Amino acid sequence: MNIKCVNSKIEVRLDELLSSLSIALDLTENKSLDHSRRTAYISYRIAEKLNVNQDIKENVYYASFLHDIGISNMPYQGSLEEIHSSLNLKKAHSDMGYKIVKNLPFDEDISKYILYHHENYDGSGPNFIARDDIPIGAQIISIGDYFDIAHKRGDISNKEKERMRELIKSNKNKKFNPEIVEALLELMETDKFWLDLSINLNYEVMNLITPEKVKLITIDELGQIAKAFSVIIDGKSKFTHLHSTGLANNVYKVAKYIGFDEQKSRKMEIAGYLHDIGKLAVPNYILDKPGKLTVEEFNIIKTHAYWTKLILSQVKSFRDDIAQWAGNHHEKLNGQGYPEKLKGDEITKEDQIVGICDIYQALTEDRPYRKGMDKLTALSIIKDIVYSGGFDEKIYKLFKEAI
Ligand SMILES: [Fe+2]
Ligand SMILES: [Fe+2]
Ligand SMILES: [Fe+2]
Repeated sequence: MNIKCVNSKIEVRLDELLSSLSIALDLTENKSLDHSRRTAYISYRIAEKLNVNQDIKENVYYASFLHDIGISNMPYQGSLEEIHSSLNLKKAHSDMGYKIVKNLPFDEDISKYILYHHENYDGSGPNFIARDDIPIGAQIISIGDYFDIAHKRGDISNKEKERMRELIKSNKNKKFNPEIVEALLELMETDKFWLDLSINLNYEVMNLITPEKVKLITIDELGQIAKAFSVIIDGKSKFTHLHSTGLANNVYKVAKYIGFDEQKSRKMEIAGYLHDIGKLAVPNYILDKPGKLTVEEFNIIKTHAYWTKLILSQVKSFRDDIAQWAGNHHEKLNGQGYPEKLKGDEITKEDQIVGICDIYQALTEDRPYRKGMDKLTALSIIKDIVYSGGFDEKIYKLFKEAI
C-alpha cells in the first residue's frame, strides 16, 4: 500500500470506537454478548473507587474492551466459561491478544493489561507472576472479568448478591488483590451497581461512564485499528483470509481514481476493512460449509450486513458515512439486496463502490465449492448484475478502469 500521510485528528472518539468494536468481538460464536463492555463498566468503577491515577483509569477502560480480543483468533472456540477455566487457554488468548494489540497505536500499558488479565494474585496464573509484579490495571480487569462471567445476569435477588459476595471473598489473596476485593465489595453494597448491570445490553449505562478526557484519534490510527480487525474478520474462515484487506485496497484505488480527496478515500478504505465485521456473528459451520447452503443458513449469513451497520453506528461520527458504506454493501439499486431492501437513490455511489469491490473480491477468491475466477470472468458477472439493475453502469465502468 502507498504511504499515506493524513495525520490530523478526526472526530472519532477512541472510547466509542473500542466499545463498538467490542460488540463484534463478543458476538463471536459462543461468546457472551456485551461481556467486554460489562467488564469495562465493572473495572472502571473499581478503578474509580481505588483512586488510581487518571492514566491507569483510562487504560483500564480501553483495555477492558479488548481484553479477550485474542479469543477471536484462536482455532478453539469454546464457551467463555470453558476458555476461562483452562490455564492453557487463558494463556493462549492473553498472549494472542497482546500480540494483536501491542502493534496498535495505544498506550503500552493497554497491551500489558491484556497480557496479564488472567494472572492470579498468589502467582498461580498462566505466567506465574504475583502481587505487585502484576500491573494494577491487569489486576482490576481480572476481577471485573471474573465477576461478569460468574454473575447470573439480570438476577438482583439477595440470594445472588450473597452468592457473588462469598465467591469474591473466597478468592481474596488467592486470585485477587485484597484491596481490589474490598473496593468491589463496597461497590456491591450499592443498588446502583447491580441495577446498572441488570440492564440488558448496557448501552444507556455505558454511555454515562466514559473517561473525563475524550481521546480523538487520527485517520492513520483509525486505519491501523480497522486493519487489525480486518485480519480477525478474515481469519475467521480459511476461505476469506485476504477478503477484507483485498477489498479495502480496491475501494481505496477506486475512490482515488474517481477523484475523492485523501481523507474520504481513507475513510472508504476503512469501510472496506470493516464491511464484514458482522460476520463474526455467523457460525463457522455455515461459513465453511462445503456444499450449497440451505435457505435458513443463507438467512443467517445475511444477518452479517445488519450487524455491521448496527455495530459501526455506535460510533457517532461513523453514522453518516463509514457505517452506511460498510453496512449497505449487499444492497442493490433494484431493491433486490439486503438487509434493508434499499432502492435507487437510497444507495449512494460510495455504497455501490464497496458493493462492487466486494463481489469482485469474492469472485476472484477460492471458495469451499469452487476455485477463484480470473479477472475477466469476474467482471462479466458483475456486468450482468449491472444489466439486471443492481449497480449503476457508470460506477461499474469507473471501477473497471481503476483496478
Ligand atoms: Fe480472558
Ligand atoms: Fe473476559
Ligand atoms: Fe458481506
